[in-house]
Amino acid sequence: MPMSTPSRSQPSPERIQWLNQASTAEALAWLDGIYEHSPWVAEQALAQRPFRSLAHLKWALAHSVMQADPTQQMALIKAHPLLAAKPNPHLTSESKQEQQVAGLWQSTPAQAAQLQALNEAYIAKFGWPFIVAVRGPRGNGLTPQAILDTMAWRLHQSPAVAFQENLRQIHRIAELRLNEKCQQHPVLGGEVWDWHAWLAQFSDPGFLEHGQLSVSYLTPAHQACAQTIAMGMKACGFDEVTIDAVGNVVGRYHPADLSAPYVLTGSHYDTVRNGGQYDGRLGVFVPMACVREWARQGQRLPVGLEVVAFAEEEGQRYKATFLASSALVGDFDATWLDQQDAAGISMREALRAAGHDPKDIAALKRVPSKYVGFVEVHIEQGPVLHALNMPLGIVTSINGSVRFLGELTGTASHAGTSPMDQRHDAVAAFAEWAVFAEQRARQDGDSVATVGMLNVPQGSINVVPGLLQFSLDMRAPSDAQRDALAADILNKLHEVCAGRSIHLKLEETVRAAAAPSDQGLQRRWEEAVSGLGLPLHHLPSGAGHDAMKMHQAMPQAMLFVRGENQGISHNPLESTTADDMQLAIDAFEALMQRFNP
Ligand code: GLV
Ligand code: MN
Ligand code: MN
Repeated sequence: MPMSTPSRSQPSPERIQWLNQASTAEALAWLDGIYEHSPWVAEQALAQRPFRSLAHLKWALAHSVMQADPTQQMALIKAHPLLAAKPNPHLTSESKQEQQVAGLWQSTPAQAAQLQALNEAYIAKFGWPFIVAVRGPRGNGLTPQAILDTMAWRLHQSPAVAFQENLRQIHRIAELRLNEKCQQHPVLGGEVWDWHAWLAQFSDPGFLEHGQLSVSYLTPAHQACAQTIAMGMKACGFDEVTIDAVGNVVGRYHPADLSAPYVLTGSHYDTVRNGGQYDGRLGVFVPMACVREWARQGQRLPVGLEVVAFAEEEGQRYKATFLASSALVGDFDATWLDQQDAAGISMREALRAAGHDPKDIAALKRVPSKYVGFVEVHIEQGPVLHALNMPLGIVTSINGSVRFLGELTGTASHAGTSPMDQRHDAVAAFAEWAVFAEQRARQDGDSVATVGMLNVPQGSINVVPGLLQFSLDMRAPSDAQRDALAADILNKLHEVCAGRSIHLKLEETVRAAAAPSDQGLQRRWEEAVSGLGLPLHHLPSGAGHDAMKMHQAMPQAMLFVRGENQGISHNPLESTTADDMQLAIDAFEALMQRFNP
């Protein structure tokens, strides 16, 4: 991975201190232009003084917009200029500079025409201008093509979402303007952003050709990721770097006193099919960046740090999942080795082909007493922090889950001659039940049920479907709620199948218990985030994480980082900013400095 010269973002406490003490007029003058033609935003935010940090100031400004009534918010949106492919004499100096950085004025004639058409379509649909922070999540400028692509997909949003997305972009523009004004740039956050882009060059065949990211367990792309992460860890200055028997990349940074315990951290580097770049990998790169800084400064901490890039968490290639964290907690079931992927390659064969000896997996079990606990940084993968304009969130618990693979066997028969009351249609049975599953999960408010895979093998346009294969994933905040949900949904499935004379085959493939955060570790995250001047927001995790498996062996607590695009994840639109990554790095660093066994 590309590594830069030594660097660290320098906070600018003097500037914030000055702002806290300045007269309202002076402070307003300094904040002028941060929010386009809307001094009321700064005026209301200043009532929150004293600011504890630049991050706090950014939050207070965004909060002032959140508190405003929709008419004021609309006026703020309408104060923004249209994006243009050539200079517009009415642009504020800030907007002019930003549009220049994005290279919008170097658009080809075709791009310029497309921009105009999209602008017109957007205004016609919503009645307000399309706004995007043209410097993008990294801060170094979106290409004209990326801007056009963003416009094209945002054109499909609902008005409510488009409105909120515009406000989010306005906050991002303000963030970048403030960074300039304070000369405080997320240097490490930017590098970590680049590491994600670098690792995303490895993708499985069938996806790579389409510019999509997919890294399944032990494929050549997966092994290339492991090698790249291992090289990155070595370059960061870890004392020991290994790739273990299950494919985990493990880096250890020794403590000052070699007998001291370790903090265990990390997340996964495999991805879902056509997934995002940040899911999992952020939790590897954030601690790596911290180690690099400590190593450069020759700093040793009272505790050691063990960073694990987990090889498998997404359950894409084999039925079993959490393979990597299961190995660390001594819960790797040797019968999994016989599972086969879609091409008939067993897990045992795949491990051997990648140079691993499955017999060594049992020895990967960690001794919990040697660790303070497990912490994990992860992109939120949901809309909560995005909607609240909060860069970081404290995870209170991880929802429990259970997964099944199922097969419905009816009778394949002629589509033209089989009377409607004499069919055994696997798809119709599935459809009747799937709608029930959706409604039953909705009843709880915080349960979810998903059929993510659906297959009608050898289906034909003129044949009543005789066979249907599907997956089912159900989750809830407590195991009891998950089990009640699963019981109702599965009972209904049996009932529907009995009523239609359909044979049901069902296999439970994963069951993961809900994992409440350890109070002590959660408090440390809270202190670390508060120390950055940010307000605290607590939230449960709907997604599953390596932390829920590690929970079986040691205390765990997670930190969430806001995602862009309404927090979408398991989707190539998954994104986060260099600024939010920087805050995660700062929080991780602060967390580590607090451990003193
Ligand atoms: C993992 O991303 C999961 O929650 O399924
Ligand atoms: Mn995932
Ligand atoms: Mn993940």
